[in-house]
Amino acid sequence: VNYNVSKERSYILEVLFNGLRRLEYRGYDSAGISIDSSSKIANGDTCPSLPPLVFRQEGNIESLVKSVYQEVATIYLNLEESFSSHAGIAHTRWATHGEPAPRNSHPQSSGEENDFVVVHNGVITNYEVLKKTLVRHGFVFVSETDTEVIPKLAKYVFDKACEEGDLTVTFCQVVLEVMRHLEGAYALIFKSRHYPNELVACKRGSPLLLGVKEFNEEGNVGPSFDDSKSLLSSIRPKELFFSSDASALVDHTKKVLVIEDGEVVHLKRFNLYYFIEPADSFPKYLTDDVFPPSGSVQIDNFLLFIQKYKTITRVWWLQDGAVSIVKFNQKMGKHAGRLARPASVQRALSILEMEVEQINKGKYEHYMQKEIHEQPESLRTTMRGRLIRGGSSKGKTVLLGGLKDHLKTIRRSRRIVFIGCGTSYNAALASRPIVEELSGIPVTLEIASDLIDRQGPIYREDTAVFVSQSGETADTLLALEYALENGALCVGITNTVGSAIARNTHCGVHINAGCEIGVASTKAYTSQIVVMAMVALAIGADTISNQARREAIVDGLIDLPNKLKDVLKLDEEMKDLAKLLVSEQSLLVFGRGYNYATTLEGALKVKEVALMHSEGILAGEMKHGPLALVDENLPIFVIATRDACFSKQQSVIQQLHARKGRLLVMCTEGDAESVSVGGTCRVVEVPRVEDCLQPVINIVPLQLLAYHLTVLRGYNVDQPRNLAKSVTTQ
Ligand code: G6P
Repeated sequence: VNYNVSKERSYILEVLFNGLRRLEYRGYDSAGISIDSSSKIANGDTCPSLPPLVFRQEGNIESLVKSVYQEVATIYLNLEESFSSHAGIAHTRWATHGEPAPRNSHPQSSGEENDFVVVHNGVITNYEVLKKTLVRHGFVFVSETDTEVIPKLAKYVFDKACEEGDLTVTFCQVVLEVMRHLEGAYALIFKSRHYPNELVACKRGSPLLLGVKEFNEEGNVGPSFDDSKSLLSSIRPKELFFSSDASALVDHTKKVLVIEDGEVVHLKRFNLYYFIEPADSFPKYLTDDVFPPSGSVQIDNFLLFIQKYKTITRVWWLQDGAVSIVKFNQKMGKHAGRLARPASVQRALSILEMEVEQINKGKYEHYMQKEIHEQPESLRTTMRGRLIRGGSSKGKTVLLGGLKDHLKTIRRSRRIVFIGCGTSYNAALASRPIVEELSGIPVTLEIASDLIDRQGPIYREDTAVFVSQSGETADTLLALEYALENGALCVGITNTVGSAIARNTHCGVHINAGCEIGVASTKAYTSQIVVMAMVALAIGADTISNQARREAIVDGLIDLPNKLKDVLKLDEEMKDLAKLLVSEQSLLVFGRGYNYATTLEGALKVKEVALMHSEGILAGEMKHGPLALVDENLPIFVIATRDACFSKQQSVIQQLHARKGRLLVMCTEGDAESVSVGGTCRVVEVPRVEDCLQPVINIVPLQLLAYHLTVLRGYNVDQPRNLAKSVTTQ
């Protein structure tokens, strides 16, 4: 497309749009961006405080892209511009307050002039009170969002400071004041017409990362200083990126700083004058550019200025692979006094392990399809370095570094409570039998929101295991906070290094399944079950009586990726089955024991992506209600693979058949005859593995079925209606 806009502007736009495309799986009902207005108006005069441009659009990212280029091309046709630096923000939304519509999309604005614009992840719980106050002060609200109070509050704070004669109020100070009034969870990025080319971000609860792309990644090294004298770096960032998710950063850099709760980050390109001596002149640059004093050194740099809310003022310098934190022993606000000599500590930049190829679809049409087929490999990565194949006195066993120091405490606990939502909950359910068997400790399961609703009892003697692919699900995080308050040992099982659950639990295990982008979780589910089986092995490792069983499970784990490869060969068969079921209204899935979870997870897949009603049913409960639904039309999938419940499932098949049920049966290879009631039912045969690992195999045909049903029914596989990958709001 000939966008007909200046090169610089389209660069900014493309960076923002590509970032949004990477994040689209997190929400896709509407999107928006804000960029600076032209710093030069048509006749060449400079006009520094033109309001930022804001574009918002309902629907997916591409509809935003189209509308922005149309508008920008019209407004800026033939306008020559150049940006020495530029600050833009963008957001893709999963609606909480207010329907998907441009007025409810982000950036939300302080008013017509866009004095302040804000993108927000999370929920502001006291927005109604704030809104009332702001309305009393004359603000007119145009959206139904909770977010709109934030830019309006920023404008109120800024205007008040100006009225009171404080013309030096910094962007960061405005945001700190806004934060003081906000309750709830948030990651925010602010832009303002009063501070062109600057961004301020802050967070509490919701995730926020800062990506750092340095000059010297391209061979340009900035000025160097002796570290003992100077806190300045030899590395000058070229581009800095805020994102709620690493996948939007890897196109640009792998170096990230994980922003912590309560921190405010101010990004601004400016000329910094740094006094080498005396050090107590240091704070000068905190305000802004100052007249260059003699003996000072000018650094052309981005200032990365992070303040910890309410406590200590810090300034952070980007250094080689780390961030230098300058701490001042000074309270903020009114009590600001002369600063003590600053002390420097380091906070390392994290290096993302994610590769760009991992987050591309490769040869597949959809992420869900790719992730289903990736499972042999993702399981291998999950187990890598963690299985010990014998030879030692302990025989075959597992090694989970993240749990090692806490195993004794876990073994002494009165109860193990698994807590999660959606697919993660189902994975915990699939793992319960083996954890109970090998640990001998009672295991209970909690859906995170339900635990919070009930304020269910959690004790100091409990081990609470938090299962979450993203590590950021709001309900699970709240439950974690609750369990920590109640003194339980908290263990995290997550796929996201550096996530809130990984950071805030006492110990844990990463599932290492690789980035999962399909909204319907597939490879994370199977890796979660494998990790929990390994956790069971680790807890039970000191029990002699079940050593043979444990060794059989280790063998089973080693062979599992190969078996998974075999079950993927059912792809075509499941596609055929999908053709058969494509116009159905509903599908029931029956199972029990290890595979009760498979029924729930299989039904969840069909429900969430194929948009077909589906229910997982514990076969033991069949005669207590579900049997009433059985007739010759409703398709019923029965899971009857070999384990201790096999004969009971054979009897379930008979009972369903006797009532003319329309049956599809999943059985172990070679068992077709014993489950097909004289060849009357359609049978799907799967490879046999150790019983407790069978759910890992059995879910795959159902994942494939859900995938093909979705494609055949013409729905969006990777962006199912109304859903989001990570639900970071309650
Ligand atoms: C959302 C997703 C589900 C996921 C659930 C829990 O509802 O759509 O696929 O299972 O959140 O997410 P978590 O990241 O905590 O595993």
